[in-house]
Amino acid sequence: MKKIITGSVLVAIGLSLVGIAQAQVKPETLVKQRQAAMTLQGKYFGPLVGMAQGKIPYDASVVARNAAYLDTLSKMPWDGFAASTKDLKSGALPAVFTDTAKFKEAQNRFESEVTKLASVSKGGDEATVKAQIQAVGKTCGGCHESFREKQ
Ligand code: HEC
Repeated sequence: MKKIITGSVLVAIGLSLVGIAQAQVKPETLVKQRQAAMTLQGKYFGPLVGMAQGKIPYDASVVARNAAYLDTLSKMPWDGFAASTKDLKSGALPAVFTDTAKFKEAQNRFESEVTKLASVSKGGDEATVKAQIQAVGKTCGGCHESFREKQ
């Protein structure tokens, strides 16, 4: 009996996963998700900028934790900029969908600076880590400059 129940639960879970995989994600959902990923990047990167600027006390363990979060978060927004979303109202400039090679380049540059930050934050000296925080910040700002509506 237990086996049968377990089996049918697994089948049910399996089927619902297939459903998720096959259903076209609504463009509105993709926009919400990419904005959520950006918002979380802001949450975890903001304090590091404050530390790099000397506005809040430097805390190596917070930097290491947030940098590790960012290393994963920095990979999440991009598939949300699908062509299906290009006509929706959002903060993304049309260039996101027309200058895709440059947009991709900006993503790669950003991801590689974040990966460097995650690495130096594990025991790197404070000056090196702060310099790398600034380097990451430049790649956020650089992309926003070309691809995000002015705030
Ligand atoms: C490769 C380009 C790119 C990089 C790199 C990038 N962003 Fe963005 N960001 C965008 C675009 C495009 C939008 C507008 C998205 C939208 O409205 O759908 C955006 C939007 C945002 C938003 C607003 C989200 C919302 O709810 O509307 C925040 C906050 C943000 N970015 C923070 C950051 C931070 C912090 C970093 C760096 C740690 C960063 N971004 C790196 C392109 C980028």
